Amino acid sequence: MKNDVDVSSHTNAVEFDDGVYWIGALDPSLRTFDIILTTANGTTYNSFLIRGSEGVAIVDTVKENFSDEFFARLESVADYSEIKVIILNHLEPDHTGALPELMRRAPQAKLYISQRATSMLKALLKPAGGQFEYTTVKTDDSVSLGDRTLRFLHTPFLHWPDTQCTYLEELGVLFSGDIFGCHYCDKRLYNDRVGDFRFSFDYYYAHIMRPFKKHVMDALKLIEPLTLKKIAPTHGPILRERPRRYVTHYRELSTSSLSGEVGVTDKSLIVFYMSSYGNTAKMAEEISEGASIVDGVRVSLYDLEGGETDPFVDLIEEADALLFGSPTINGDAVKPVWDLLSSLAVVNLKTKIGGAFGSYGWSGEAVRMIEDRMRGLKMKIPHEGIRVKLIPTDEELEQCRDFGRSIAESLVGKPQKKAVIDFADLA
Ligand code: FEO
Repeated sequence: MKNDVDVSSHTNAVEFDDGVYWIGALDPSLRTFDIILTTANGTTYNSFLIRGSEGVAIVDTVKENFSDEFFARLESVADYSEIKVIILNHLEPDHTGALPELMRRAPQAKLYISQRATSMLKALLKPAGGQFEYTTVKTDDSVSLGDRTLRFLHTPFLHWPDTQCTYLEELGVLFSGDIFGCHYCDKRLYNDRVGDFRFSFDYYYAHIMRPFKKHVMDALKLIEPLTLKKIAPTHGPILRERPRRYVTHYRELSTSSLSGEVGVTDKSLIVFYMSSYGNTAKMAEEISEGASIVDGVRVSLYDLEGGETDPFVDLIEEADALLFGSPTINGDAVKPVWDLLSSLAVVNLKTKIGGAFGSYGWSGEAVRMIEDRMRGLKMKIPHEGIRVKLIPTDEELEQCRDFGRSIAESLVGKPQKKAVIDFADLA
């Protein structure tokens, strides 16, 4: 493929299809994005210009401090008076930083956003003052540039409520917003020209899209039937070489591997624990025993002392119930438990059941602290956790088995007896 990219001057637009231009910005020195994401070689803020027989459309803009670069590239291929349409696929500031100024320079342009973007747009343009008009669009709405048609796909929560995609019908180009994006800066721009960005693509998916897998699957239902010649996301390479490969990869990443196993229809309950003197471990084993007698529940027991966090996060994502056992040390749960709990921000936990247990010496705060964290993650806690002072007695171990069975039964919809057990009161 010919060497047809030149962004070295910071003023050149790149025509990557007939009348379709990249007018974005390169940010090679960025190392941390949105506080939680790292990038080894920066990112790009991709913005696009589409020229039709009856006007010009702009799809997304750039982060505010890259506005000069964006406007210089835009001016290299169009006059502001030609801009008929501004489409915002996503209103996060890295894509709308130049919007107020663009609207000032092209006041005749009409804004197109998703319904859910309305309140964000108002908040965004509030500092700029004045009146502004916009049109909300949904799946299969379209806007015409004469010989070019831009059709909208409603793809919310990828990764904000407002997100949508725009499809250029005549050329088969999908402007996908953050979907299929990654923080990878390479001025060669195209996926078949830049360096190996696979790790960045998967990292971005894992941190940005993963909590919204259900919404990814919904979006793929709209995207997969399209004739896809190119995918133009808002970050990272333009995917012009085998673009459908990335769609397939998103489906793979968003598909539950556990449910793909032959014959697996059981609910999954996982018991994680750490133990100082074997007492919390003994409780964990009895809880697992109790849960295991319930038909239709698959129970797994893991000692956090022997595991890495990342594979556990994968298991947790597909589990239906999670129980955490920790001793109380210095008034707190132990670090491996917190490490695992804190890594769950990338997982949707809303429908999962949680529970906690643990042995303690004299104060025993860990169980309640773990429960509070799980509630904060929107998990349901159907049974208050079990706290045992030092070594569990036979009676206490029996209570652990009951606790495990009750949690398991609540997974399969069986009647549960209300169990509120605090052996601290008995000590
Ligand atoms: Fe790239 Fe969600 O902004």
